[in-house]
Amino acid sequence: MTDMQSPVLVEFDNGIAFVTLNRPEKRNAMNPALNIRMLEVLDELEGDQRCGVLVLRGAGESWSAGMDLKEYFRDNDDKPRDVTLKARRQSGNWWGRLMYFEKPTIAMVNGWCFGGAFTPLVSCDLAIAAEEANFGLSEINWGILPGGNVTRAVAEVMRHRDALYYIMTGELFGGRKAAEMGLVNEAVPLAELETRVRKICASLLEKNPVTLKAAKDTYKRVRNLPWDLADDYIYAKLEQMLFLDKTKGREEGLKQFLDDKTYQPGLGAYKR
Ligand code: ACO
Repeated sequence: MTDMQSPVLVEFDNGIAFVTLNRPEKRNAMNPALNIRMLEVLDELEGDQRCGVLVLRGAGESWSAGMDLKEYFRDNDDKPRDVTLKARRQSGNWWGRLMYFEKPTIAMVNGWCFGGAFTPLVSCDLAIAAEEANFGLSEINWGILPGGNVTRAVAEVMRHRDALYYIMTGELFGGRKAAEMGLVNEAVPLAELETRVRKICASLLEKNPVTLKAAKDTYKRVRNLPWDLADDYIYAKLEQMLFLDKTKGREEGLKQFLDDKTYQPGLGAYKR
């Protein structure tokens, strides 16, 4: 870790960039300073070879308590509209970047996750939670509806009845329930969380990064397209991928299986 005062910390370890939301004294609530820094961090990591996978975690016992109710809401209430809009853009910008980030992304949910934090959670490609983590769409509890695209984010991954239940009741739910509903991939005991995340990172780091980026973006883009447009988009993306992959991974993968017989694609990835 570098600067303990920074609202976001970045650590590198064997191809993994651990990005830590770092306001533990405020339960990692997202204030303007954190939102501005997160966008810078994503810019910095995009071309950084030390980052093959990005893991987003929270300092202390929270992942994130959502938007900072003082600095993001109350302090801006009496300001001109352009100030509110700017604050909205600052959060939306990094969540949007995260959704289509150049590298694979994993939300490692170590604790509290409320309201606005659901958008970066869903923007990450994968999410692994501690069983002990607690989630809540708490907006209803203080008199607003889930904005900041939280409503859209939960509609993306949760079932209709589950989403409405938690939007309307604001009840807490734990890591296992989050996994059962599809909000996260899986839940493991907190003591095993980092080990599990590192194992997934190791699998992703074996894969061709150009292919990974194309595959995840294609999935995210085509799921709301009609079939004919989806088919066209997928082939366009595939051909773009072949053009961008200077390592010629597809040819290498075929050669290692068909000619060298050094691996089987059904059982693992070709050696890069
Ligand atoms: N915004 C601003 N400050 C916050 C937030 C937040 N979202 N969450 C916690 N804090 C602050 C508290 O005000 C407190 O500050 P203080 O020490 O200056 O008094 C400090 O963080 C610690 O908070 P506690 O409530 O004392 O911590 P505790 O561990 O007991 O509880 C919990 C944690 C459950 C997360 C609680 O802080 C809480 O309910 N936070 C709000 C969660 C929430 O509803 N977020 C908004 C979602 S809606 C949206 O994001 C748009």
